Parts: sequence; structure tokens; C-alpha cells
Amino acid sequence: MVWPKSQTQVGNHVHPLLRPHDLRLTVFSTFAFTTHCKKIILSMIMKLLLSEKRIQQRVGFLARRISRDFLGREILMVGVLKGAFIFMADLVRKLKIPVRLDFVRLASYGDGTCSSGKIQFTKDLECSLRGKDVLIVEDIIDTGVTLQYLYRCLKARRPGSLAVVTLLDKPSRRKVSFQADYIGFQIPDHFVVGYGLDCAEEYRNLRGIYIVK
Ligand code: XMP
Ligand code: MG
Repeated sequence: MVWPKSQTQVGNHVHPLLRPHDLRLTVFSTFAFTTHCKKIILSMIMKLLLSEKRIQQRVGFLARRISRDFLGREILMVGVLKGAFIFMADLVRKLKIPVRLDFVRLASYGDGTCSSGKIQFTKDLECSLRGKDVLIVEDIIDTGVTLQYLYRCLKARRPGSLAVVTLLDKPSRRKVSFQADYIGFQIPDHFVVGYGLDCAEEYRNLRGIYIVK
């Protein structure tokens, strides 16, 4: 008895790429090559500033301090989109106290590494702050202009208390005096990306924080 040949073998004119096993290998090696190239290109334009491990250790430290300082209370965390989203996601999961979340979005930077100098609310809170313990979660304080503006806006809504946690702080860049209550790392004057921070919307998903050379 003659068994029918499979679709890919009909007429003996099968392109090697159509064989399922080879196809998997080809896709895998193309992926590995592309990933390798991406790594080389990234290392040429970026320098590691804070590794994933250091960031996670520090986020754990901040979470312990915040949990201790707000023991027995519930906090409303206000994340500043988009940059703070990864930091906030890691921080809330390490907290030992009840927490509620809301978000604002403020536009203060253009598409590149240059500030436009203007601040705009492009997304406001969805809940009232009145009487609540509110903690603003920011990715980075640079000139301080954005947070000073946000702090004043939120304070006017009469929260029970208002504090700020920032993952990064660039004190040498301050134009207005602003001090966060909880600071992850003080860093020198470099434009950084990764762990939520972007350059023209790229690199937010890097696990570490990198200086753009
Ligand atoms: P200001 O100057 O108002 O700016 O304190 C705060 C906002 O500016 C953005 N920013 C950065 N974003 N890498 C970034 O990806 C940086 O080095 C950087 N410095 C400032 C950021 O959105 C922050 O909330
Ligand atoms: Mg920000």
C-alpha cells in the first residue's frame, strides 16, 4: 500500500523553509541574531547606570519604609504617567499596607530629551483626595517644576496628608526648590532611560536604568 505524501512533499519541490522543523530553526536563529544585534547597538548608545537587582533592592527598601511610616492607615497612591508605571507596579506589590491607586498624566517634556518648559494636565484624577493619605509616585525629579506644580494642585484638594516618592532624583538640575519625602537614587545630570523612562517613547521596557550616551 502507498501512503499519500504530505502537502509539503508533493512533487519533490519543497522549499527547505517550508519543512516545519527547519522553519522553527530558521525563525529561532533569526530571532537570536536580531536580539544579539540589538544588544550590541544598545551597548553602543547606552551605559548601564542601575541594574535590575539594585533597583529591586531599593524599591524593597522604600516599600518597607513607607509601610512602616503609614502603618495602620490606607494610602492613595497617585502615579504620574507614563514614566512611573513600572516603579509604581513594583512598589505597590511590596507594600504591607492597604493601598488604592489613581493616576495623573502631566505633559512637561517634548518627544526627545529636551523640556518644553510648560506643564499641562492631560489626565486628571478620578477620585477625591479629601481627608486621604496621598502619596505621589514619580519616576524622576529633574528641574522640580513638574512636581512643584502637581504638589500644589493636589494640596489644594485638601488631602489628609500629601507625600512624594520618586525613584530618581537629579538634584543638580533643580530650578525650583522641591524635596521628595522618599528617594530611590540620587543620580548625576544625565538623561536616563529604562524601567519606565523613555526617550521618544522607546526603552521604557528595559529592566535596568541606562544613561543615553
Ligand atoms: P521636571 O524637570 O519638571 O521633570 O522635574 C520631570 C519630568 O521630566 C521627565 N524627565 C526625564 N525623563 N529621562 C526621562 O526619560 C530623564 O533623564 C528625565 N529627566 C526628566 C520625567 O517625565 C519627569 O517626570
Ligand atoms: Mg515623570
